[in-house]
Amino acid sequence: MSDRPRKTSAELRSMRWFGPDDLRSFGHRSRAKQMGWMRDEFTGRPVIGILNTWNDFNTCHTHFPARVDDIKRGVLEAGGFPVELPALSLGEQFMKPTTMLYRNFLAMEVEELIRAHPVDGCVLMGGCDKTTPALLMGALSANLPSIYVPAGPMLRGHWREATLGSGTDVWKYWDDRRAGRIGEKEWGEIEDGIARSAGTCMTMGTAATMMSLAEAMGISLPGASAIPAVDSNHVRMACASGRRIVGMVWEDLRPTDILTRAAFENAIIVDMAIGGSTNAIVHLLAMAGRAGVPLDMDTFDRVAQGVPLLANIRPSGAYLMEDFYYAGGLPALLAALAPRLHLDARTVTSATLGEAIAGARAYNADVIRPLDNPVKPAGGTAILRGSLAPSGAVIKPTAAEERLWVHEGPALVFSDIRDLKARVDRDDLPVTPDSVLVLQNAGPVGAPGMPEWGQLPVPRKLLQQGVRDIVRISDARMSGTSYGACVLHVAPEAAVGGPLGLVRDGDRIRLDVPRRRLDLLVAEDEMARRRAAWTPPPLVGGDRGYVALYRRSVTQADQGCDFDFLRGRPGESPEPQIF
Ligand code: FES
Repeated sequence: MSDRPRKTSAELRSMRWFGPDDLRSFGHRSRAKQMGWMRDEFTGRPVIGILNTWNDFNTCHTHFPARVDDIKRGVLEAGGFPVELPALSLGEQFMKPTTMLYRNFLAMEVEELIRAHPVDGCVLMGGCDKTTPALLMGALSANLPSIYVPAGPMLRGHWREATLGSGTDVWKYWDDRRAGRIGEKEWGEIEDGIARSAGTCMTMGTAATMMSLAEAMGISLPGASAIPAVDSNHVRMACASGRRIVGMVWEDLRPTDILTRAAFENAIIVDMAIGGSTNAIVHLLAMAGRAGVPLDMDTFDRVAQGVPLLANIRPSGAYLMEDFYYAGGLPALLAALAPRLHLDARTVTSATLGEAIAGARAYNADVIRPLDNPVKPAGGTAILRGSLAPSGAVIKPTAAEERLWVHEGPALVFSDIRDLKARVDRDDLPVTPDSVLVLQNAGPVGAPGMPEWGQLPVPRKLLQQGVRDIVRISDARMSGTSYGACVLHVAPEAAVGGPLGLVRDGDRIRLDVPRRRLDLLVAEDEMARRRAAWTPPPLVGGDRGYVALYRRSVTQADQGCDFDFLRGRPGESPEPQIF
């Protein structure tokens, strides 16, 4: 329950459109009837908008056309009236240059779709990477009762005797292909076996991370996030979510009642315990900005300290999301983590998180480890600061070779992604295993959109020597399915004058993960000379329309890359005037 009184039929928001005895409402009712709707179906009952991020280019949401019907069934059973509202789909595989460029676009669309239509509550259908944060950001700003339905992961991949994980195993076998150890036939077999069903990437990439964090924050039904997309339990979860949103409308239980400071702290703790994607920090910062919850990189690091990695899932562990589901899913992990969590945080069920996970336990203690036998004693993401990243940077130490956690070496600089592509595999590249690869101008403004270019390839010259990991630094992001000693999200970014843009070949760079430091070992007077001579890089990707708006308004990574005019003030969007 919320702290507000239970709503009556007359108080439903949709009744502003359908209730009054005036000309405008006559128009709304007669046009609803044009679609065959009966007056008592859409008046006096909660009208539920189902925001469906489906399209034919989103490989991870191919089951959504069927799931919409399952959600509608639940809404109708509970006495509501379901209406589908298609929203921009952000299919990670096909959208270029990056779905991150369009996360804020979808968040704006979600807010305005909700605001402009006669809906009392919403079901948010997402899963593929940026769809989850975008839906939650928009729903927070609109702040009508909302429940999130995760797409769920796809089934495990298979190739010969190996299981294949999305992304993670692609990078691994691609390195083998580049080094000549895998031929065309084997590569074709891997292509056939790595994506076997509807659903999101089934490693602990950004999709699984954000679906897990949404559940941990209480905005989806308990146990929802790990159900494989094609499992019949996923159908029932969708139907149950449809039923529940109707109750949430009567109770007036809103996103800001659920996505509180306690929920964000729970999300950070769970992010560490699942070995979540580095992208989660950008999205959590953006969501917190929408919720009006003060959260910064230092808070993230403080809350995250000392949380062990419990989920033994690739890329930080050995298993896949299907195994995680059979082992008990997120409720089992939350139960194992219970001493660290705010168990009094509220969920969409109106029960507390503690009540929601009562009785949950792990059925496979190797997949979901207990606190006293973690996969690794420290969890996923570390926040770095120093002269190379005054506003911060992130690294996922659990996905990097441990020998590189403390490393000093000479910079080898690529001025942008084109320069990187042109030179990285050349035989005359002046690279050694000690080199620190630096990619400039790949951040929110520079790329634009902060693409997942941060897992710079290990140069072929080094692969042929057997080197599998090397320190890499950029203002880009990295796929959550990736691995390697990649320092990401360097802020401020190169394209707005950050120190990253001033690095030159041969400069010494020092990374010290235990001390949370990232330093450029160049004297301050030399840096001052370089700063005075710096000019912004040429704009790529055009500078009109949405891209121009994006460049003008996007914040840096340490603030979540939201638009500066969209942060804060949840629910303060004015209700539309109806004349
Ligand atoms: Fe959709 Fe990975 S491509 S989650």
